[in-house]
This record gives sequence, C-alpha cells and structure tokens, in this order.
Amino acid sequence: MKFFVDTADVAEIKQLAASGLLDGVTTNPSLVAKSGRPMREVIAEICALVRGPVSAEVAATDYDGMLTEAHVLREIARNVTIKVPLTPDGLRACRRLADDGTMVNVTLCFSPAQALLAAKAGATFVSPFVGRLDDIGEHGMGLIADIMTIFRQYPYLKTEVLVASVRSPMHVVEAAKLGAHVATLPPAVLRQLFNHPLTDKGLAAFLADWKKAGLSIA
Ligand code: G3P
Repeated sequence: MKFFVDTADVAEIKQLAASGLLDGVTTNPSLVAKSGRPMREVIAEICALVRGPVSAEVAATDYDGMLTEAHVLREIARNVTIKVPLTPDGLRACRRLADDGTMVNVTLCFSPAQALLAAKAGATFVSPFVGRLDDIGEHGMGLIADIMTIFRQYPYLKTEVLVASVRSPMHVVEAAKLGAHVATLPPAVLRQLFNHPLTDKGLAAFLADWKKAGLSIA
C-alpha cells in the first residue's frame, strides 16, 4: 500500500518525508487555503520535497476552466497530479488530461458508481472519502470494499483506489486488508501508525536491562 500525506503544510511534509515512508502528497483547496500561501508556490515546494505524485486541485468547475488551470498546474513539476471533482465536467477534463498523459486524481467520490465512472474516464487515482461517509452514519469502508470488488472484475481498469478522508489507523488497516492501492493520511494519523504502548514498554525494558548489565556495542 502506498502512503500519501494529506496536507499542504510544508514543514509537516518535510518532517514526514525524512521517514522514507512517504510515497506522495494530496492537497485540496481547503488545505492550500489553510497554508496561507499562493497555490503555485506551495505546490512547487511540495513537489521538490517528495518525488511521488503531488495532487493539486483545480478550482474551476467548468471543463474549459479546469483545463486552463490544469495546464498551469502541470507546468509546475513532473510529479504534479491534477485533482478534479467527480462531476460531468470533471470527468470530461479527466479524460482529456489522461489522454495527454497527465496524472489525474478524481476526488470527492462517495459511491461505487462514481468510482466506476472515474475509472472509465482514465483516472490515475480515484479518491473515495471514507471519513465523511462515516461522519453521516454511512459505512465508508464498505464503499472501499465495493469499489475493490468492482475493479477486480475488470483487470484492464488501471485506476488506483486512493482512500481519502482517513480518520484513524483503523481506516488504514481496513483499507490495506481490502487491497486498496493508496491511503492518504493526515500527518497526525500517519504518526499514530507507529504507536503501540507495548513497543514503548518493551524498549524501555530492553534499555534498562542493557544499562543494568553495563554492556556497550561500540
Ligand atoms: O484531501 C482529500 C480528503 O482526504 C480530505 O478529507 O474529510 O479530512 O477533509 P477530509
């Protein structure tokens, strides 16, 4: 499973990239707005920090506007992935960009039917939002299961399922069990993956015994 981080906070990305576990970055208009920085500037800095795909979302909602913005964004760096909403204009733009060889992440996916449309439109990634479905009492991970079942029936579909709107390590584990290709994680959730109290307890015990024995390696 590939791990992307879902943020436009460059300091967070820099720190997490140092772990060697980061395969890409996703942003969205809300995350870029939160960064307080110009879009092209922050995307350029992120693309220089992470070699993998960096999703940059268009703000236009019409086909022509999306293509205009996509052409600006993809000039920033080779690893820019254009993010478009799962709308008729968004999928039409996806098809055109995919035909040009541009990576496209189709976002705001909330149903298996939508995911199938994104795949038919040639999306590189489709982003089902599990947390936002959970938030309204629907089964977010059930959507991932349905999408993976459908995609497995058609091996010629190359679209990767990029699990988004992740709220906890359990979302990551369940998505991995289902064979989802990518999970994009808020920085805090990515850090939570490391944590287990028995790891901390066990390490403390090892170090205490080592110190008590007065041992050294170097
Ligand atoms: O950036 C796409 C998605 O991961 C955002 O999800 O629900 O945390 O805003 P959310």
